[in-house]
Amino acid sequence: MSAAPPPPPASPARAAVLCGLAGWLPPILVTNEDLSRRLDTSDTWIRTRTGIGRRHFAEPGQATSDLAVEAGRRALRSAGVGEVDAVVVATTTPDRLCPATAPLVAGRLGLTGAAAFDISAVCTGFVYGLASAAGLITAGVAERVLLIGADTYSTIVDPRDRTNAIIFGDGAGAVVLRAGRADEQGAVGHFDLGSDGAGEELIMVAAGGSRQRSTPGPVSPQERYFSMCGKQVYRHAVTRMTASARATLTLADRKVDEIDHFVPHQANLRILRTVADELGLPPERLVTNVESVGNTGAASIPLALADAATRTTLQPGERVLITAFGGGLTWGSCLLTWPALSRTDHPYTIGGTQQS
Ligand code: COA
Repeated sequence: MSAAPPPPPASPARAAVLCGLAGWLPPILVTNEDLSRRLDTSDTWIRTRTGIGRRHFAEPGQATSDLAVEAGRRALRSAGVGEVDAVVVATTTPDRLCPATAPLVAGRLGLTGAAAFDISAVCTGFVYGLASAAGLITAGVAERVLLIGADTYSTIVDPRDRTNAIIFGDGAGAVVLRAGRADEQGAVGHFDLGSDGAGEELIMVAAGGSRQRSTPGPVSPQERYFSMCGKQVYRHAVTRMTASARATLTLADRKVDEIDHFVPHQANLRILRTVADELGLPPERLVTNVESVGNTGAASIPLALADAATRTTLQPGERVLITAFGGGLTWGSCLLTWPALSRTDHPYTIGGTQQS
């Protein structure tokens, strides 16, 4: 009697696959020396405390959507696609309180008709956006999604505030995701996402929303600016990013030594080194570009990925763990394998006219 044939192998699950990447920085370069000419600070203080050497600022009149369009256009070109089903913009600095920035960006990219919405998760926005974009794809709602992380912190940080003005820079980074299989290179894998609203006041812009608008009385100019309790944020960032990275590895059933590159939100070099150390990752697996761009909020992870891709640090098939922490408080991580991007020629562009 012949044995029953073995059941066919289960086909790999539908997954979102990374297929395009680009970054864009606005043209105004601001060095630590530039800042120390107008603030009571120094290059040594800034480098020692944050690892930041320079950052880019938007030009007067330039808004977050302008940066997002530049990064988005280049990411579409990198993916070799002209159409997507959804455009997601992660940002803390939308062009306006209402409407969202994403429909405008989609329209300017010739993607009118695509679903378009913003993600508001401060510096965790890109990871939340990645989970949302991947969810649209795995649910069968979209075949292709353009996700852009873009922020212009120079528009919300008080230029006289020496503690915050030295940290933040402007920029945009974008990825294209397509429907594929979970066993493909580029597959976006397990996620860990979390929040703790009890920490709302540690990072905030107090005025401009419904709380302030429904409260009688004048608004002080300070309430219109970004505020951050640096020391507490520092401690939360280390704890939350480490725990989230560990949770993601557990979900994926991976050990830390199976991670080829750790790409955290580029908050501050000391935070990143401490998190990598706590995870037991060798320093050479930590990807950083904070020295040259500062903290660019929701743009920071795609900009760091684009920078590393330009340097060919990331090779197809390698495991990449991304982790972020931000206001809310929010945090999140994602494990993915690096794809063979069809175009990585100039994914990291600075200024309006170069490499267009
Ligand atoms: N230049 C020179 N001195 C500065 C300064 C600057 N840019 N900013 C603050 N100082 C001073 C303070 O006034 C204070 O002086 P004092 O002791 O006379 O009062 C002193 O430096 C120490 O300030 P403190 O705020 O305690 O410094 P710190 O070591 O905590 O560093 C941060 C400040 C903001 C760099 C640090 O808290 C930090 O990196 N926090 C996390 C920020 C971050 O990454 N946020 C993003 C998360 S998404």
